[in-house]
Amino acid sequence: MIWDYYNGKTLFVTGGTGFIGTALLCRLLSQSSPKRVYVLCRGGADKAKAKWSDMLPPSAAQILTENERMTILDGELGNTATMSLPEETIQMLKRTVHIVIHIAASAQLQNSLRELAYNVLAPSICLTQYALKFPNLERYVCFSTAYANAHLWKSNESTDVSVDERVYPLGREEEDYYKIALEAWSAVQKTGSSDEYDAHNFPWPYAYAKHLAERLVLQKAAERNKMDKVLIIRPSVLGPADKFPYPGFATSHGAPSTICAAEYMLHPGRRIRLSTRCQNPEQESTIDEVPVDVVVDRTLVHVALETSGCIHAVSGEQGRLSTEEWWRAFKKERRLPWNAKPSWVSDDWHSPDLHQLARKFKIIGTSFAFSQERTVKAVEKLGDGEKENLQLFADRSKPYSLHLRRHHIRHQAVEVAKKKRWPVFSASLLCRKGKPMACLDENVKA
Ligand SMILES: NC(=O)c1ccc[n+]([C@@H]2O[C@H](COP(=O)([O-])OP(=O)(O)OC[C@H]3O[C@@H](n4cnc5c(N)ncnc54)[C@H](OP(=O)(O)O)[C@@H]3O)[C@@H](O)[C@H]2O)c1
Repeated sequence: MIWDYYNGKTLFVTGGTGFIGTALLCRLLSQSSPKRVYVLCRGGADKAKAKWSDMLPPSAAQILTENERMTILDGELGNTATMSLPEETIQMLKRTVHIVIHIAASAQLQNSLRELAYNVLAPSICLTQYALKFPNLERYVCFSTAYANAHLWKSNESTDVSVDERVYPLGREEEDYYKIALEAWSAVQKTGSSDEYDAHNFPWPYAYAKHLAERLVLQKAAERNKMDKVLIIRPSVLGPADKFPYPGFATSHGAPSTICAAEYMLHPGRRIRLSTRCQNPEQESTIDEVPVDVVVDRTLVHVALETSGCIHAVSGEQGRLSTEEWWRAFKKERRLPWNAKPSWVSDDWHSPDLHQLARKFKIIGTSFAFSQERTVKAVEKLGDGEKENLQLFADRSKPYSLHLRRHHIRHQAVEVAKKKRWPVFSASLLCRKGKPMACLDENVKA
C-alpha cells in the first residue's frame, strides 16, 4: 500500500503553509503514520497554525494544528543551508530525515531573474546540497513547474507543443548541460542574466529560473552519485481540489485562473486583446489547470514508488480545457450585463499592446500537451482498491465551473480594484457572492 510506505518515516517539508503544502500535509497525515514530520515555517508554530486555521474548516485544520507527529520549525530558506535554525536542529535533521519535500518558493511571475536568484535558485541549491548529505535519505523532492519548458512554444511551430517528462537542454543535446547550468548560474549571480536565457524566449524569468533550478538540483545529485534519489514535480496551473481535503479547497492567491477571472469580472470593455498563433484559438488553444489534490497524490505516490527524475503533475491532453470552455466559465460569473470577448492578434506574448491578463499570464492562447506517461505507468503498479482512493487524474466529468471559488474571485477582485484605485465596493458589485468554502465544515465530512 502507498500509505504504508510513509509509516515510521521522518519527513522534512518546506512550504507547508502554502497551497500545495497544506493539501499535502493534510493528505499525508490523514492517511499514514509517519514517525515525524518537520515543517519549516517563517514565524514558527503560531504563524503556521494561524494560516491553516484560516484556510481550512475546523476538522481539516485540526489534522494539522493538533497533530502529535508534526513539529514546526521556525526558520527560513535563504542563501545558506542553515535556514536560520539552531545547529543542533540542523544536525538532528541530517541524522533522522528520510524524505525531504521542498515546496517553498516566494516566486511571482513578474519577478526579475535577479530576485529569483535569491528567492528560488539559491534556497533550492543550498537545501539540495544539505539534503543530499543525509545518510538515511530515500527521496529528495523538489517542486518546479510544467512551464519551465514553456520556451518550447517559441522554438516550435506546432499549435499544440508536446512536452515530455525530461530536461530539455538549452544548448545542444550533446553538450554537458550540467556544466552549462553551473556557468549560467554563475552569470545570473553576477549580471542578473545569462547567455542561454537571452537566447530563448521564456514567458517569464520565473520559467527560466525553474528550468535552471531543475538542472542545478540534478547537477548536485549527479556530483554525489544520487540521481536515483531526486524527484522533480512539475505542476501546471494549480486549481482547486476535486476531492481532498475537500472539494473546492484553494487559497486566495494560489490558483492563477481565479486571478484571471477577477481581472475579467472587472474589465469594463467588450474586447480583451490576447495573442495566439492558432487559426481557431478558442478551440485549439488550451489551459492545463490541475486540481491541487492531483498534484499531491501524484507526488506521494511517486515518492512511495521510488520514482526519480521529472514528473508532470498536470491534467494532460484528456483533462486540459480549451480556451472556449475556460472563457465560458468566466462569462457565467460576470455581472456586467455585456460580454467581454477575446480579440485575437498575432503579437508576441511580451507585447505591451495585449490586455494585462495576457501580459501577466502570457500562456493564454498557447497549447501544451504535457506528457503524463510516467503516472499512467505508475498506476499499473497499483491495486484496484488502491487506485479508487487516489486522485491521480483530474475529474472532468462535470462542465468546468468557477462557482466554488466565488469567494476567492471576489477577494482577488478587491485587490485588483485597489491597485487600479477604484472604490473597493466596485469589486463586490461586479462579482457574484460565494461562501468561503473553509467555513463549511460539512464539505470535509462529506
Ligand atoms: N501556484 C501555481 O499555480 C503553481 C504552478 C506550478 C508550480 N508551482 C510551484 O509549486 C510550489 C508551491 O506553490 P504554492 O502555490 O503552494 O505556493 P504558495 O501557496 O505561495 O506557498 C509558498 C510557501 O512557501 C513558503 N516560503 C516562501 N518563501 C520561503 C522562504 N524563504 N523560507 C521558508 N518558506 C518560504 C511560504 O511560507 P509563508 O507561509 O511563510 O509565506 C508558503 O508556505 C512553488 O515552488 C511554485 O513555484 C505553483
